[in-house]
Amino acid sequence: MKSRLLFLGPPGAGKGTQANLICKDNCLLHLSTGELLREEVAAGTELGKEAESIMNKGELVGDLLVLSIVEKRLSNSQEGWLLDGFPRNLSQAKLLKELLEKISQPIEAVLLLKIDDQILINRMLSRGREDDNESVICKRLKVYREKTSPLINYYQTLGILKSVDGCGSVEDVNSRIKKVLD
Ligand code: AP5
Repeated sequence: MKSRLLFLGPPGAGKGTQANLICKDNCLLHLSTGELLREEVAAGTELGKEAESIMNKGELVGDLLVLSIVEKRLSNSQEGWLLDGFPRNLSQAKLLKELLEKISQPIEAVLLLKIDDQILINRMLSRGREDDNESVICKRLKVYREKTSPLINYYQTLGILKSVDGCGSVEDVNSRIKKVLD
């Protein structure tokens, strides 16, 4: 199993769910920028205060702010890692590339979870997180299409993109992911 991974896909695709399973099975560090930002919000830190209103609008938090969260953890990491929800645009992808070159830890595979919008919307509406209401979900999908989806072509060109169908049960999706990452 590859041990320096990046999970890509629209909101609600199952990145977090599948990243948790893969990280537990393979002792990888799970770095979800969404989770880390929500922890900052819950702790009421300055960073959290800055991020909260942006997240609740479904927009992207500033690149350097997010990079600062990831950089410290990646630089200290001895084991493999899985990035979930980062990078989110080409500028973050370039910042990440520079960071990984500095610490000599290139990405081994980028996994894209592909899934229909209607399934995503239903999944998020039944979860009901702060940013899971119809208008914010619409905005998150728009941001994904405009800013994040160009990363598909970026990583495809680098020859490290693997695509997996994200429909079906958690177990079925997990088996498909294991197959392409082995
Ligand atoms: P983030 O937390 O990354 O949210 P997201 O990308 O919108 O992704 P989600 O967590 O909604 O979905 P997921 O694909 O992880 O799916 P999950 O496994 O949870 O980001 C939130 C916000 O933070 C952003 O909008 C932005 O403001 C900010 N942010 C984060 N990173 C940033 C960055 N790098 N730069 C700038 N800003 C950033 O599953 C969804 C639901 O479906 C769950 O309830 C789950 O139980 C269920 N489910 C999963 N798989 C299945 C299945 N196979 N069948 C049925 N249900 C399933």
